[in-house]
Amino acid sequence: MQLPSFMSIRTILTDISIFAILPTLCHLMKKIILLSLAFGPFAAPAQTLSSPSRSLKAEFKLVDNGKPAYTLEYKGRAVVEQSLLGLVLEKPDVLNSDFKVIRTQAATGDETWTPVLGEQSTIRNHYKELRIELLQTTTDRKMNIVFRLYDDGLAFRYEFPNQKNLRYFKVTREVTEFNLAADHKAFWIPGDYDSQEYVYTESALSAINGDQSHISNGIGFKGPMDASRVQSPLMMKTKDGLYLNIFEAAVINYPVMHLKLNQKTFTFSADLAPNAIGHLAYLEAPCKLPWRTVMVSDDARDIVGSRLILNLNDPSKIDDTSWIKPMKYVGIWWEMHVNKSTWDYAGAQSATTQGVTALVPSGKHGATTQNAKNYIDFAARHGFDGVLIEGWNVGWEDWFGNWKEEVFDFVTPYPDFDIKEVTAYAKSKNVQLIMHHETSGSVSNYERRLDRAYTFMKTHGYNAVKTGYVGRIIPRGEWHDGQAMVNHFNWVVQRAAERKIMVNSHESSRPTGVHRTWPNYVSAEAARGNEFNAWSSGNPPAHETILPFTRLLGGPMDYTPGIFELKMSAYDPTKKEQVQTTLAKQLALYVTMYSPIQMAADLPENYEKHPDAFQFIKDVAVDWDETKILEAEPGDYLTIARKAKGKDAWFVGAVTDENARKSTISLDFLPAGKKYKAVIYEDGKDADWQKNPKSYAIRTVDVSSKSKIDLVLAPGGGTAVSILPKN
Ligand code: NOJ
Ligand code: CA
Repeated sequence: MQLPSFMSIRTILTDISIFAILPTLCHLMKKIILLSLAFGPFAAPAQTLSSPSRSLKAEFKLVDNGKPAYTLEYKGRAVVEQSLLGLVLEKPDVLNSDFKVIRTQAATGDETWTPVLGEQSTIRNHYKELRIELLQTTTDRKMNIVFRLYDDGLAFRYEFPNQKNLRYFKVTREVTEFNLAADHKAFWIPGDYDSQEYVYTESALSAINGDQSHISNGIGFKGPMDASRVQSPLMMKTKDGLYLNIFEAAVINYPVMHLKLNQKTFTFSADLAPNAIGHLAYLEAPCKLPWRTVMVSDDARDIVGSRLILNLNDPSKIDDTSWIKPMKYVGIWWEMHVNKSTWDYAGAQSATTQGVTALVPSGKHGATTQNAKNYIDFAARHGFDGVLIEGWNVGWEDWFGNWKEEVFDFVTPYPDFDIKEVTAYAKSKNVQLIMHHETSGSVSNYERRLDRAYTFMKTHGYNAVKTGYVGRIIPRGEWHDGQAMVNHFNWVVQRAAERKIMVNSHESSRPTGVHRTWPNYVSAEAARGNEFNAWSSGNPPAHETILPFTRLLGGPMDYTPGIFELKMSAYDPTKKEQVQTTLAKQLALYVTMYSPIQMAADLPENYEKHPDAFQFIKDVAVDWDETKILEAEPGDYLTIARKAKGKDAWFVGAVTDENARKSTISLDFLPAGKKYKAVIYEDGKDADWQKNPKSYAIRTVDVSSKSKIDLVLAPGGGTAVSILPKN
């Protein structure tokens, strides 16, 4: 074996100013130091990389026969122990051994960018980079692994350069490992390739059982599960107080990464949703795979506040973003979930082969012209931007459960929904309509009709669409998390961008920061939303204290908060289901669950009963200049303060799990010397999410940057505060 020789360093290039001289990139200051090293086969010394503040250290080396491997340390503590990297391709064709390092490049990235909509108006992207160029000696194939080390975590990705011996290839396994140092506590949901709409389980890694196929928790359809498989983002806490999160960024033309656990070694490895014939991904060099990420901190607030995932995505590909606007909306929606009305015209899910003309309306259809006008009036009266109308179009008779291909055409309203009249009425009231495209999982049908559907939307003045993918996917055999579906979700957003349409997807694969690149992808569900509280075992109080550490790391969530009538017995005395929070916590969710498009999800009549609490929903912003994570512990509590974009107004949301909680927050984030009026919406003294969820109190106090506010949260409770300038 040939020993590495530092005499073989051929070039050391320093390029400090190349970007600085470009005026369009004036925020970008990038120092690049290139080190070209040539090493003998398999004998390269370990390459190390430190994060900008040096709290994180990653190491790359080739082990046993040229297998790429890495480790990660945080402040001297092992976070990821030696873990293998690489891919296995179709045929007995591996890309995880027999490599030699042919070149390494070190670089520093430091830029500040401006998201179109976001939790803060500027984001710093500051990292150290190490690019390892590898050659598989046995096949003469090249693979690069690029590591980026931020102060809040590690990211790495595979890149396949243009080359002679690798062009089209099929991935049958991704080797990537995350070999964890101990049996950490994890917040996990099962690795169902078709859905993320699960309740989190908090357990030791050794207690994970990711097969929940027999648990009845309201999920209408479940995909394949495996006892050892869980989903990412996976949030963990070590016994000595480190917070870890394994996730991915920029998932484009590749399946979603689930995680398969070896419970003896606490090693996770990448597990990718296959397609109908068992392949994982079809690729063509040159290409870059998604980033794999490990966030680490000894302060849980750093995980919630991390912008790592966004930073790893490409800048916006939309030049003119002026049409992408934050929105608060109401809609013909919750009334179907509480069974007050129906999506379908005849109200009995009674499809006939003669089509809609043979149906007899039940009188319970929600999306009627008159009801739409009522919601438009309500929106206009209370200052909401939009109205979502679900159930407006023909097809709901057999929309779900039959794995049927041709369900909706997305252009034919029911006879009792006069779309021209509704459009004209909305326009006269300065309210925007939000289109609804439930595909019931029939992607082939949706793709065939998409252009017509978008033309129809534009003709009727709709600039935003909520899409839905309930049910098993067609083309049959595909899963929601497979490569083809990832491509579909990304492709829909691009087609929408061409028409200046904003997209809010439900039942899509979970976001991985791609909304930085396509900022018209304004929100997504892709987790268990508030709706489950209406008709299933619901979302336990800890749920909303976990989502910001998991699902929300990838992008905004359309959780649909704001339910005031919390017990379903109000609609039907036999019902036991209930929203598992207090009313005040529903208000706090507008701050803690980031989305630039937020729904006031309850029925107008329920808001009219509580105009004082409703005022918070009317006031709260949805697009932000600044975000301060004040307190955070996954599964327990979260307190966030945010400054409204372009306004001198702050909003605070604090949520707790099933345990009552008291704390005191300092308002030192306010500018010094200014006076504000804080309106505090809190749980009543006797509030309890189960026994007395509607008990709340509102008090107003004068505050400044020197003030403190005591937070007193009931079991399953929350506090919302609006801090408005005093005039
Ligand atoms: C599930 C979605 O999450 C929900 O918001 C929608 O109302 C139904 N599907 C019907 O499309
Ligand atoms: Ca859903």
